Amino acid sequence: MNKKLASLILSTAVLLPFPVFAAMKGETPDPGAALFRANCAACHPNGGNIMNPRKTLHKKDRVKNGIITADDIIRKMRNPGPSPTHPQDWAGMKMFDEQKISNADARRIAQYILKTFE
Ligand code: HEC
Repeated sequence: MNKKLASLILSTAVLLPFPVFAAMKGETPDPGAALFRANCAACHPNGGNIMNPRKTLHKKDRVKNGIITADDIIRKMRNPGPSPTHPQDWAGMKMFDEQKISNADARRIAQYILKTFE
């Protein structure tokens, strides 16, 4: 085998995995995104809120409503509570307990919301 061919084969073998890994990395889905789509997106499409437009998941609304950290978001999931303005009424958000969404998954969703909906 000539030297040029040998080095070509060698460099191809060395370089080949990089684009493959890069493609794999790009396609690795955020588990928080999938969990959000499955549990939250029906009422919060693109971080909005189909039932209460003043309570979207976007930062400016959340902060106004005192929901700032991942723990605040998890607390809302665990205990969405009654409407602050009409306490006798259900505010409309479904409750997600640990049977429905584990603490680890709840945190993944919260982190996804914080980084996605500015
Ligand atoms: C059945 C519809 C529905 C689903 C499903 C739902 N939400 Fe909500 N969400 C609401 C409503 C309605 C409110 C406003 C509740 C209130 O008045 O306190 C709300 C409020 C919130 C808020 C507070 C936003 C703010 O600006 O005050 C957060 C955070 C939130 N939801 C997160 C989630 C997450 C995370 C999920 C999925 C695990 C989820 N929601 C699923 C209806 C829903």
